[in-house]
Amino acid sequence: MEDLKKAINKTVDAIRKETKMKPEIGIILGTGLGKLAGSIKVETSIPYGKIPDFPISTVESHKGRLLFGTLGGKKVVAMQGRFHYYEGYSMQEVTFPVRVLKALGCKIMVVSNAAGGINPLFNRGDVMLISDHINFFPEHPLRGKNDDSIGPRFPDMLNIYDRDLLALAEKVALEQRIPVRKGVYLGLQGPCFETSAEYRMIKILGADAVGMSTVPEVIVARHCGLKVIGMSIITDMGLPDILEPVSAAVVIKAANEAEPKLAKLVEAIIKEV
Ligand code: HPA
Repeated sequence: MEDLKKAINKTVDAIRKETKMKPEIGIILGTGLGKLAGSIKVETSIPYGKIPDFPISTVESHKGRLLFGTLGGKKVVAMQGRFHYYEGYSMQEVTFPVRVLKALGCKIMVVSNAAGGINPLFNRGDVMLISDHINFFPEHPLRGKNDDSIGPRFPDMLNIYDRDLLALAEKVALEQRIPVRKGVYLGLQGPCFETSAEYRMIKILGADAVGMSTVPEVIVARHCGLKVIGMSIITDMGLPDILEPVSAAVVIKAANEAEPKLAKLVEAIIKEV
């Protein structure tokens, strides 16, 4: 990508030809969660193919559209389909849309994903609010030249999942009677699922869930000053001693089943922010 700022401006200009809406909240919809978009009153839908510098998602469960509309009475933009490092994209490509969300006017980013459960108290189908993360990706999204007008060279990672938003999410979950877990997400590159020994290691490292996304986007969100709230659906359990086979189909099925719960929660949170 040439100059980052130029690329962001070019993309935003192209989007502005389709819609003038100024969203407050950006949402990244993870694996099997694309239907969460169904709760959004969509005003404009732009296929990624029409957006300069947006890669096309190669994963079947990811649609590849940018949706502008309202949810919970707020103006939102949602990425229906995200880009994973394992698809072969560079970290700059994976995280570019986050920079675009910020440039479009978003103040908050809501990010969702499907994850393997590491904490033995969790169950398949649980929703986990992400309280913190561990970056296990082999490459850093901020490696390389830094544009100080976009964000600092050495961003701090304290409370990277915003404490006020986390407290709000817990309050709303209680009010809506949606049981939620809270824990640490470890992000790694995939695309294979983990071995028993790796799941054991991940538990020792202090994670409650593991997945193949989110961490790069959240780091870049912090870099450019977006507040973040993150949620995982626990789609399979990575319990090393009683490990069961896992596949994309298993993950998508569990994510789809839990999706209405997550959709309700996200909408209720957005209504109150
Ligand atoms: N491991 C890594 N990524 C995942 C998993 C898992 O068990 N489940 C869903 N995404």
